[in-house]
Amino acid sequence: MAEEVLHYLKPRHGGTYLDGTLGGGGHARLILEATSPGGTLIGLDHDAEALQAAGTNLSEFGDRVILRQGNFSEMESHLDALGIAMVDGVVLDLGVSSYQLDSPQRGFSFREEGPLDMRMNPSAGTPAASVIAEAEADHLKHIFREYGEERWAGRIAREIVAVRERQPIETTLQLAELVSRVVPRGKGPQRIHPATRVFQALRIYVNGELDSLQAGLDAARQRLKAGGRLVVISFHSLEDRIVKRAFRALSIGCTCPPRLAVCACGQEPVARVITRKGVRATDIEVENNPRARSAVLRAMEKLSAEENHDG
Ligand SMILES: C[S@@+](CC[C@H](N)C(=O)[O-])C[C@H]1O[C@@H](n2cnc3c(N)ncnc32)[C@H](O)[C@@H]1O
Repeated sequence: MAEEVLHYLKPRHGGTYLDGTLGGGGHARLILEATSPGGTLIGLDHDAEALQAAGTNLSEFGDRVILRQGNFSEMESHLDALGIAMVDGVVLDLGVSSYQLDSPQRGFSFREEGPLDMRMNPSAGTPAASVIAEAEADHLKHIFREYGEERWAGRIAREIVAVRERQPIETTLQLAELVSRVVPRGKGPQRIHPATRVFQALRIYVNGELDSLQAGLDAARQRLKAGGRLVVISFHSLEDRIVKRAFRALSIGCTCPPRLAVCACGQEPVARVITRKGVRATDIEVENNPRARSAVLRAMEKLSAEENHDG
């Protein structure tokens, strides 16, 4: 959705932009080109391999690019360390990159054999294999239900606990085969692999993705200049719901319960939602990149001081 990102971000010459999900640097490159000659791009990714790839990809832009390893939920401390108070725009293109998905040793893919890792930053946190080995059945069920909306969560959790007593579950295909065995055939959507939801759930849990998203949206809102824009692309309904709610709250301002006839909180709107409905990838893009099928883009603009009456 590169074209759509540029359309909604509206980068301006000489502006300062933050890409919180740098990946291979595809969006970053477009932003650097659009803000040429003087614009600055701060790129964050918690995956050291992604940063390295992006560093090579963006080397021609020299000191217009600043790359840092870190979670976008901590963008404020990165900006502080760089002495940058406010930015003109922020992009968050959530989830895993094709590069990560296509690297079996990272453990994201249920189609290829690899260690059950799934950490976007493999030098921190707990790998998925430890969760599968140690979590109680109820906890596993909760993870699959909460983060994968998996209908057969309880059944899968019980089977994991039974199997791991006989042999450790340490690889992607071991887990994918276990799930395929347990999920009844002919029930649920057929077009996705039976292990899709379990893998999504584990990945979200292992990387604390929903908490990071909430914190990242709050931080972006704090650090956007008036008129600055935030563009977020999500890949499943759990993420999109968080984005939609956060944008709505910012555009309404008032947090009083609806039963109060008159506002008592006095909070004013701080942003304007630009995308009334989520924007989806075009058919052509989905044909070229099937992953774009589930992408939803939303954008908002921070209001100016006069518009939100705080200046
Ligand atoms: C979909 S890819 C982004 C691709 C990128 N927009 C491009 O054009 O190449 C998502 C990237 O964001 C990173 N990522 C996901 N969540 C993150 C977070 N909370 N903080 C930092 N990086 C994150 C992943 O490691 C991955 O490299």
